[in-house]
Amino acid sequence: MKVLLVNGSPRKNGNTDRALEECAAVLNQEGIETELIWIGAQAIRGCTACGACSRNGDCRCIFDDDIVNPLIRKAAEADGYIFGSPVYYAGLNGSLKSLMDRMFYAGGAVMRQKPAAGIACARRAGATITADEINKFFQINGMPVVSSTYWNIVHGRGAGEVEGDGEGLQTMRNLARSMAWLLKCIQAGAQAGITAPELERGTMTNMVRGDLIDGAN
Ligand SMILES: Cc1cc2nc3c(=O)[nH]c(=O)nc-3n(C[C@H](O)[C@H](O)[C@H](O)COP(=O)(O)O)c2cc1C
Repeated sequence: MKVLLVNGSPRKNGNTDRALEECAAVLNQEGIETELIWIGAQAIRGCTACGACSRNGDCRCIFDDDIVNPLIRKAAEADGYIFGSPVYYAGLNGSLKSLMDRMFYAGGAVMRQKPAAGIACARRAGATITADEINKFFQINGMPVVSSTYWNIVHGRGAGEVEGDGEGLQTMRNLARSMAWLLKCIQAGAQAGITAPELERGTMTNMVRGDLIDGAN
């Protein structure tokens, strides 16, 4: 079994990376393979809503000049995911947001119903909302969201400062233990004939009420 960890910080060896390394070490102790991918510091284009990925249905974004398509292919081979972001203005890093929009819109099917967690790293504030923001990608894709003994956040500013956040690193280790446990349960379930449910699709009800355009409410 393999967990893909994605460092969404433009700082390769910053605090987000350190938090993900803490998760990876425990996952490895649990016998689970890991791969940590840094998204880099180059521009990542946002989704242009062109719809090509939906029409083609091939789990590829039409823009093939950055990390998104290679990451979708890596995600297809993984059993679980941890996405980490530094907190930027109380939200996730812009490059990671662009990446996740396109990765999930084009390639969500390769991750569907596999467990995942979002983690966030802040100097001071905005971490829980950022972790929640990442988790939103999973919750619309049938993916069990993995928890820990605190919300999945760490604190620090300069690279390495997270070392002083003992509880944050403990939270990362317990997140990894929970991820390992869930992956093993899913594997044992599959061996016993219990597989992920077939999910209903097809009904999309847009929240538009034309009858209220001239009316009250
Ligand atoms: C553009 C920018 C915006 C930031 N906004 C916040 C913020 O809203 N709240 C906060 O606590 N820290 C904020 N920070 C600090 C980073 O979240 C913090 O330094 C974090 O450790 C960076 O993680 P990294 O080392 O993985 O890049 C901001 C940093 C930058 C560069």
